[in-house]
Amino acid sequence: MKPAILVTRKLPDAVEARLRRDYDARLNPGDILYSGDEIIERAKDVDAILPCHTEKFSAEVIARLPGRVRAIANFSVGYDHVDLQAAKARGIIVTNTPEVLSDATAELTLMLMLGAARRAGEGERLVRTGAWKDWSPGFMVGTQVTGKRLGILGFGRVGQVVARRARGFDMEIHYHDLRRMAPEREEGATYHPTPEELMPHCDFLTLHCVSSPETFRLLNAGRIALLPDGAIVVNASRGAVVDDDALIAALKSGKLTAAGLDVYQNEPDIHPEYRRLPNVFLMPHIGSATKETREAMGFRALDNLDAIFSGREPRDRVV
Ligand code: DGY
Repeated sequence: MKPAILVTRKLPDAVEARLRRDYDARLNPGDILYSGDEIIERAKDVDAILPCHTEKFSAEVIARLPGRVRAIANFSVGYDHVDLQAAKARGIIVTNTPEVLSDATAELTLMLMLGAARRAGEGERLVRTGAWKDWSPGFMVGTQVTGKRLGILGFGRVGQVVARRARGFDMEIHYHDLRRMAPEREEGATYHPTPEELMPHCDFLTLHCVSSPETFRLLNAGRIALLPDGAIVVNASRGAVVDDDALIAALKSGKLTAAGLDVYQNEPDIHPEYRRLPNVFLMPHIGSATKETREAMGFRALDNLDAIFSGREPRDRVV
């Protein structure tokens, strides 16, 4: 008998075709967002769940999952939506989909940098609403990206690809991570042992750290104060790593010129002030949203399930 898999969201056609071929796939063709109770109900006769970051596996939800559920094979690199301790306590395997979304997320990060620096949101709104009336030397003047210093907070897979792409703009790369990388990974980037030491070197700061209790509101008022005046902040990791009130205050005061954001706390109900600020370039959590990457994420999640159900260690086991 094929293992039964609860798939919580509509996945790319090619991924669903493989799911149907190899598993008793319980799909969600209407792409309905399931609550914790609905997940528990739908999981009652499945062997594993293939969720996205939109489903929250709190300790309470995990405790109520039927005993038959052996694995949560995420369609995401992030796993902050899963209480890992609770999963571990119940012996549920948790996997993610690293690597395959690094290029897409790095592309989006560069877009956020450029969009924030060159005021893409404002410009687009002017043209689209018919409010564009004139050209002058002072019109829509932004910040040049080329040759500036880019600080990368979290120099993992995505951070390293961002560095590589940013070198195409002759940017000088600085980074902080928990440990210094080997020279072939640094590719000339300058390591700073603490976030505080990194901050003064960032004309642009981009966040690529894992969301965890340790990184909660890592970018706070104290660290923003250490950035050069007029810096630009970009976040395509998770909203929880930013203190929204501190970032908004700095955008209002002019301490920061602009920000480019793809992720938010409590998304999609984001801090309402972001919508009012002209100097924030806003995207709706689309870092990995390319056809190629979304298929690759699905196949990677299936590779992990294949390993689990054939008694092998899944490549991307988190717990
Ligand atoms: C990820 O993979 O973590 C992306 O944020 C989409 O969930």
